[in-house]
Amino acid sequence: MISALRESSHTTVLTGSGISAESGVPTFREAQTGLWARFDPKELATPEAFDRDPALVWDWYAWRRKLVAEARPNPGHLAIAEMQRLVPNVTLVTQNVDGLHQLAGSREVIELHGNIRRTKCAAEDTRVDVFEDGESPPICPSCGAPLRPDVVWFGEMLPLGALEAASMAARGADLLLSVGTSNLVYPAAGLPIEALDNGATVVEINPSETPLTPHADYALRGQAGDVLPRLIGELS
Ligand code: APR
Repeated sequence: MISALRESSHTTVLTGSGISAESGVPTFREAQTGLWARFDPKELATPEAFDRDPALVWDWYAWRRKLVAEARPNPGHLAIAEMQRLVPNVTLVTQNVDGLHQLAGSREVIELHGNIRRTKCAAEDTRVDVFEDGESPPICPSCGAPLRPDVVWFGEMLPLGALEAASMAARGADLLLSVGTSNLVYPAAGLPIEALDNGATVVEINPSETPLTPHADYALRGQAGDVLPRLIGELS
């Protein structure tokens, strides 16, 4: 596996919420805690839920934003940033909305599901950085519509540019690492298969089995924060 990484002319890394678990950011399918325990995330992360009760959805994201703001990149994030320095042509695609890859020093991160640290107007779909906080949700300064987190909700389209770039990176890769994702949510879960169909070596890093496991060339069972630094250690 190390030789595949050393000899790779184009490596694509796909990450999911599992890589942020060791930073204290709950994975998407982990039970919610506290006052949100009675809600299923899939019920809150939809445009319908926002239409029904915008304050509830905004407050949930405010809670998640606070968790993310307190979180620091862990050795898994740092190892991927190091890999981008050591190995030529590494493309990083993430399903995570926490921005921890960028904080770890990774550059050109393709964010498939947006970023919870950003806000946009729910009507104009434009990014809004300056707004009066206090209301839940706050109001768009230009059109008066509610603001919402700049993330992709269930049933919504992914940002086209990001999806195309991710698909190209998967098809063009000769090595794809799938790290900390349950490989259940499409179109992201289709990327390792696109890579396989184009002859790439696929490596899964996850403490548990996923639907990708039977197709992967290597399935490394463990925490991303343990496995990735070891891989980098063997590289350098
Ligand atoms: N290191 C590596 N993998 C881990 C770790 C860890 N420390 N801890 C948990 N995992 C694995 C779990 O075994 C699981 O397979 O991470 C995966 C997390 O799965 P999900 O919670 O389903 O998250 P993800 O795959 O990112 O979900 C995809 O679905 O809900 C939407 O938009 C949301 O981006 C998310 C997408």
